[in-house]
Amino acid sequence: MGGDPALAPPALQEGAAQGKPAIPSVIPQRKTLGIVGRAGKHLRSLRGFFYATAAPARPKPSRSFESHWEFIGARLRQFITYAVMMCVFLPLAFSPFLGLNGSMTSDEKASLARFIDLASAHCRGGYLAGQTEYRFADDISTDTVDSMERLADDVRSCEACRLCKTRKKAVPGEGVLSPLVMVIGEGPGADEDATGRPFVGRAGQLLDKMLAAIGLSRQTNSFIANVIKCRPPQNRDPYPDETIACASFLSRQIQLLRPRFILCAGRIAGQTLLETTAPIGKLRGKFVDYKCGDLTMPFIATYHPSALLRNEELKRPAWEDLKLLRSALVDAGLGDRLQ
Ligand code: URA
Repeated sequence: MGGDPALAPPALQEGAAQGKPAIPSVIPQRKTLGIVGRAGKHLRSLRGFFYATAAPARPKPSRSFESHWEFIGARLRQFITYAVMMCVFLPLAFSPFLGLNGSMTSDEKASLARFIDLASAHCRGGYLAGQTEYRFADDISTDTVDSMERLADDVRSCEACRLCKTRKKAVPGEGVLSPLVMVIGEGPGADEDATGRPFVGRAGQLLDKMLAAIGLSRQTNSFIANVIKCRPPQNRDPYPDETIACASFLSRQIQLLRPRFILCAGRIAGQTLLETTAPIGKLRGKFVDYKCGDLTMPFIATYHPSALLRNEELKRPAWEDLKLLRSALVDAGLGDRLQ
């Protein structure tokens, strides 16, 4: 190490005078911001505090190899595993755009997930990971089918309120499981009471046309139900105790079906579900979050189709509501499930 001792700081010049190297071979640690005196001392102790309390560095895992061949073999195995995983991951990452995973069965999804898990465990440690059971929220399990059938039986045999005495048939609801949209109306009318099916009268036929106009139908991607499962006599509004007695059926249906959106038809359904007395004109035309158990989903209310049959002028705002729903479905990436 060289350097002109005369240019060294005074403390080092002193060392040089005693025959020590003018500039030490180990460079002293940089002083905090070059600040000397009491301020520097405080800064240095502050730095010491942070260094002392920082988490100790984790030792790097090490692995020794008996020979170069063993090393090459291990790297080759890792490389092949990564390559295979990439072949799986990349198409998977783009699958929503290619519409691939929509058509996968739950068994296919589960074996793919198991494969990815095993492959990544192998990359990490070269051991076989324990098998995990995979379930996917958008799959329709046989449990859901059974539970929906059991629920419909419970509705048909329900005697929780006075409406069971006057009904011909209870109307549990109908449509697909895991629907894009769950349409919720008020309660059965005469035609529904006679058939046990929701929205089959004149209002129901109009509802089917409205849904079809935005690519929805009870046969392919929607489920139709009512707040009240039995017809109130003379189509009167349901009494509060009847609504309360029936409420658990609807919330069980929502939790089993897990619809992506709720379309609420009419004042009674809107006021009941949103627990408000606001008129339907104030409730419609916007999305709100609807909570049911651990689920939260977008909810939009519109006029009841029988109101549209009575008043033509309501058709335009109802159509605006439906267009909003359709855009939201497309924005949510569900456009390919519309018809
Ligand atoms: N009106 C409703 O609200 N629901 C039906 O099922 C039929 C008519």
